[in-house]
Amino acid sequence: MSTYRAVIVGLTGIGASRPSETEGPVFGAMPASHAAAYHKHSQTEVVGVCDLRAEALDAFRNQWGDVWPQVNTYTDYREMFDKEQPDLVSVVTSDHAHADISVAAAEGSAQAILCEKPIATTLPDADRMIEAAEANNTLLSIEHTRRWYPSYLQAREMIRSGELGALRTIVCEQFGPRAMMFRNGTHMIDMMCFFAEARPAWLVGDLEPGFEHFTEYMGDGGHDPATDPFASAYIHFDNGVRAFYNCRKMAFNGSQFSLTCEKGRIEISDQKFEVITQREARWWSHAEVPTDPYMAIRQSGAVAELIRVLERGGTLVSPGREARKTLQIMLGILDSHHAGNVRVDV
Ligand SMILES: NC(=O)c1ccc[n+]([C@@H]2O[C@H](COP(=O)([O-])OP(=O)(O)OC[C@H]3O[C@@H](n4cnc5c(N)ncnc54)[C@H](O)[C@@H]3O)[C@@H](O)[C@H]2O)c1
Repeated sequence: MSTYRAVIVGLTGIGASRPSETEGPVFGAMPASHAAAYHKHSQTEVVGVCDLRAEALDAFRNQWGDVWPQVNTYTDYREMFDKEQPDLVSVVTSDHAHADISVAAAEGSAQAILCEKPIATTLPDADRMIEAAEANNTLLSIEHTRRWYPSYLQAREMIRSGELGALRTIVCEQFGPRAMMFRNGTHMIDMMCFFAEARPAWLVGDLEPGFEHFTEYMGDGGHDPATDPFASAYIHFDNGVRAFYNCRKMAFNGSQFSLTCEKGRIEISDQKFEVITQREARWWSHAEVPTDPYMAIRQSGAVAELIRVLERGGTLVSPGREARKTLQIMLGILDSHHAGNVRVDV
């Protein structure tokens, strides 16, 4: 079995946090960070980490020193790529920095890149990343987390099987104090593309009041809800799927998708997966679908998938070209809003 040399650029919680080893049934805690995912996978080791902040490098050594005592720390990712010659590169910086780092990784030694969502803040940046990955035969996976959740994958398999008939509409709702479009909405819009399995053709968008000035997203990491609006949109996919996205900042927290097909409906959230079919006339039958809680999920699923595709071939569940659709939609919503909530071709 090969061992893959991994490096991480960007060391906040999503890049570097360490779960308690004692939590979680059977396989222990399911990681919620890139470092923890590399720790969990038996064929990966972290050989280098990079952050602009020295305190983040110290914190990494304190947290993970017992696992990777030899790890080298850097403030310059290009120097790290040159010295460490990594096979796997995690890009976990603020969004506007994803592109330069991913391109340098693809043009260097990386066989695979796991980049945080959204792919980038502009379409030219997303295109540079995709082109560099394709030109160098490097896998580019974008960490839109729900793509590695068993329940969402199972729901899409159910739609693909045709047992509920063709998918016609998607209704997505997301609420919470941090229900901002670029920060958290990107996950929801990505899942709409995941289920629709088509190209977004056109849309109409409406931003949070007070964001009339917001014509571009700077990718500041999105910690402050005042810097990233909530939004609503109607998105028309080119296979005829009609998708409604409704995201709003409020105290009530959560998200959900209703996927209505010709012969039934799936209601799915992070908490529940339910299939609704017609019992008679106007009456519905509800059936909860159990899902496998022991699969590798989130970043762990993403790392395991990269190793599998590197070794055995196949396609990724969250490639750069898919994540580009989500960015197109979010930028299209900005354009629609500023033109007076008009139809925008994507
Ligand atoms: N998948 C998820 O659920 C999830 C959750 C949280 C954050 N994220 C994503 O993860 C990324 C990081 O989010 P965040 O909130 O930690 O962002 P952040 O901006 O707070 O922090 C990013 C870290 O990257 C470092 N950094 C920035 N530019 C750098 C560079 N050129 N070289 C080295 N280090 C650099 C910063 O010093 C900082 O420590 C974002 O893309 C965000 O959207 C995803």
